[in-house]
Amino acid sequence: MAVTSRTQVGIVGAGPAGLLLSHLLGLYGIESIIVENRSRAYCEARQRAGLLEAGTVEVLRSVGLGKRMDAEGMEHGGIYLQFEGERHHLDFRSLTNGRWVTIYAQTEIVKDIIAARLAAGAQIEFSASEVAVSGVTSDRPVLSYLDESGVAREVSCDVIAGCDGFHGICRPLIPNLSVYERTYPYSWLGILADAAPSTDELIYSRHHDGFALYSMRSPEVSRLYLQVPPDEPIGNWPDDRIWAELQKRFALDGWSVGEGAITDKSVTAMRSFVAGPMRHGRLFLAGDAAHIVPPTGAKGLNLALSDVVVLAAALRAALVSQSWELADAYSDTCLDRVWRATHFSWWMTSMLHVAPGADAFESQLQLSQLRYVTSSRAAALSLAENYSGYKPLRFEH
Ligand code: FAD
Ligand code: DHB
Repeated sequence: MAVTSRTQVGIVGAGPAGLLLSHLLGLYGIESIIVENRSRAYCEARQRAGLLEAGTVEVLRSVGLGKRMDAEGMEHGGIYLQFEGERHHLDFRSLTNGRWVTIYAQTEIVKDIIAARLAAGAQIEFSASEVAVSGVTSDRPVLSYLDESGVAREVSCDVIAGCDGFHGICRPLIPNLSVYERTYPYSWLGILADAAPSTDELIYSRHHDGFALYSMRSPEVSRLYLQVPPDEPIGNWPDDRIWAELQKRFALDGWSVGEGAITDKSVTAMRSFVAGPMRHGRLFLAGDAAHIVPPTGAKGLNLALSDVVVLAAALRAALVSQSWELADAYSDTCLDRVWRATHFSWWMTSMLHVAPGADAFESQLQLSQLRYVTSSRAAALSLAENYSGYKPLRFEH
């Protein structure tokens, strides 16, 4: 017999979306449980995003999650675009009347929210197995799982939030989903290196051998990415080859990439994916569970966090005031932002990568577009506005 319990919101997944949702609901006095199939250590160490839009930063600050981000995050007022051996600066602050982005790793956001939730006495079940959701078209859906010690548990909820990422169990519970997707013919090899960044802001470089991105995590740690063939075995990339390729793709007279010990190495596929509606009955999807963008536009984490800001307000109206209007609008409200980010991410990706078999016509189009965004104020403003996030995102206290 399973051990039964009761809460208001059952959340599947302790990624950024599930954790922030639980935190925001807590501020509204709404009780939740998070059930996660990985360990806390695994969730806190998974290397992923690093770039936050200004609006995301402002929300995290306004809900009491800004302390370490403000101390350790790095504010950037622009980016560099490099092509044909030249590096151009786009100054977001002057283009957009002061917009900026912040470099603060997803691992750190996850650590900060887990610490805040546990300090508030919230329930997070790490290392759960056999996680399942049922009854989403009733008014008492059930979240069931085996806890870390193998005890079967069933939690009766008012609603379930599927924050369980792209490979989760919640999206398949929505019948008649419309799915829109694109797989790109390349992957990213990402590394973390103990090397002081050799640049003050991120460099997006289009080289005829492929794209490269120079990002960072701290004044001592660099985060770098290389376009590689799809499903590239990591074994093909010993450290020496990675550094040689980075030096080549970022080459600039009188400048070089500072090298150091590589502490993490992984390959990520590039995909656009949008599924809707993001709600079925009492089940709501948020973040990568509903949509994926290729990382070139740095939007995935920002979208995941925007979804749950919208969802928290909708659930407050539904569960505290018995008004389901915001919940009914949830999917459309989120998908509007998602499609804008999907277009921007596709555009950045297509402009900067070299597709296998691409001909000279395609290269000329990419270079023409790069020259345009680095010489026209209007084109640069459009990039800057999309990159730094132009739609206001606010958490109503
Ligand atoms: P996830 O982080 O995937 O979390 C889902 C959670 O659910 C996980 O903890 C998972 O273990 C858990 N889970 C899965 N299945 C189950 C189950 N059955 N039961 C219980 N739990 C389950 N985005 C940006 O905005 N900026 C960037 O700079 C950026 N760079 C990126 C670079 C790389 C290399 C990659 C891979 C991604 C990048 N992203 C970026 C995207 C960003 O990391 C994701 O969009 C973000 O992690 C989505 O958060 P999420 O909470 O929706 O999903
Ligand atoms: C990072 C990742 C991105 O995809 C991007 O566009 C910018 C920064 C990062 O991991 O730091």
